[in-house]
Amino acid sequence: MIPVFRPSMGDEECDAVSAVLRSGWIGLGPRTKEFEERFADYLGVRYAVAVNSATAALHLAAKALNLEGAEVVTTPMTFVSTNHALLYVGAEPVFCDIEPDTLNLDAAKIEALVTSRTKAVMVVHYGGYAADMDRILDIARRRKLLVIEDCAHACGGEHRGRKLGAIGDIGCFSFHAVKNLATGDGGMVTTNDEAVYRRLMKLRWLGITKDTWSRESGDSHGYSWYYNVEELGYKCHMNDITAAIGLVQLAKLDAANARRRALTERYNRALAGLSEVETPVRRDYMTMPASHNYVIRCSDRDGLHEALKAKGISTGVHYIPNNHYEMYRKFRGATPVCDAVWKRLLTLPLFPDLSDEEADRVAAAVVAHLRAH
Ligand SMILES: Cc1ncc(COP(=O)(O)O)c(C=O)c1O
Repeated sequence: MIPVFRPSMGDEECDAVSAVLRSGWIGLGPRTKEFEERFADYLGVRYAVAVNSATAALHLAAKALNLEGAEVVTTPMTFVSTNHALLYVGAEPVFCDIEPDTLNLDAAKIEALVTSRTKAVMVVHYGGYAADMDRILDIARRRKLLVIEDCAHACGGEHRGRKLGAIGDIGCFSFHAVKNLATGDGGMVTTNDEAVYRRLMKLRWLGITKDTWSRESGDSHGYSWYYNVEELGYKCHMNDITAAIGLVQLAKLDAANARRRALTERYNRALAGLSEVETPVRRDYMTMPASHNYVIRCSDRDGLHEALKAKGISTGVHYIPNNHYEMYRKFRGATPVCDAVWKRLLTLPLFPDLSDEEADRVAAAVVAHLRAH
């Protein structure tokens, strides 16, 4: 069976984990700090805070930006973590429709949803393809809104040469098993704002003012055992085992993303000219997509899913619109484009170790099914 996603791990990751296990320090410590510094450098931001998932990253971001009680314009075309994070802090998601081709927030529809209670826009760079950040930032500036970038799909991607996650007020990354940079589970929050950074550092470890590593390593001047608890934080920091994998994966990220882009182009060529299929689109501002997934819009989505399964090819659907879930139906915002397009979405296998031959087999199976029907 060809899976939809598969992590790409090698001897370097195994060696890095082994070194941490033998080091005597496997919790939050020096590797986590190093990963944060390298990640911030890679992105071109001042601060990065390592956590245990993007769900936690998004939750802490919403908390650090004080979104309690506010409305947040958001997308229904995402994994439910994006919007759960708003509910965790008592913010209210307001659903904005998406563009039918990029599946990103439709910037032209944001402003009509803004009220005196709106405090932020939640942007998901779907599939690793940048949302229309020029227009979104323009609205945010004029209407005094904060911008959160959910970069779960977008690690290493760029908008007009700037790394995604370095453009809005705060960026949230996932290192879940199938993501572009994979550590099993893990996440990162990025920002240029020192006050937000300090709050995030506290929130990720129960509201405690200094972590065990800075106490141990003598950053704490004097009373190394002393700490204060300033607010109700959470237990969601990263550990050094995860960070060690992350450091290796970060060094491989650009090459892995280049392979994802090459496979994307290979699929695009193989599927070009099929009237029943639309392939991912690339706008001029998407100077470097992270190409996390390969999502086609097609007729007979469910039939194609079954036909590919019968040929040993797994596919997926990303996503059921969040405002279709029972618990999200009560929230404001009409999304007719999303309501229609999601029924045509099918995610084909895409991961760096997918061979050209496997990609050709997938594309040939798509073509054969659609020609036959
Ligand atoms: C767009 C988006 N946001 C957030 C998440 C949550 O990521 P994590 O599994 O690291 O919590 C995911 C995971 O699939 C995602 O795709």
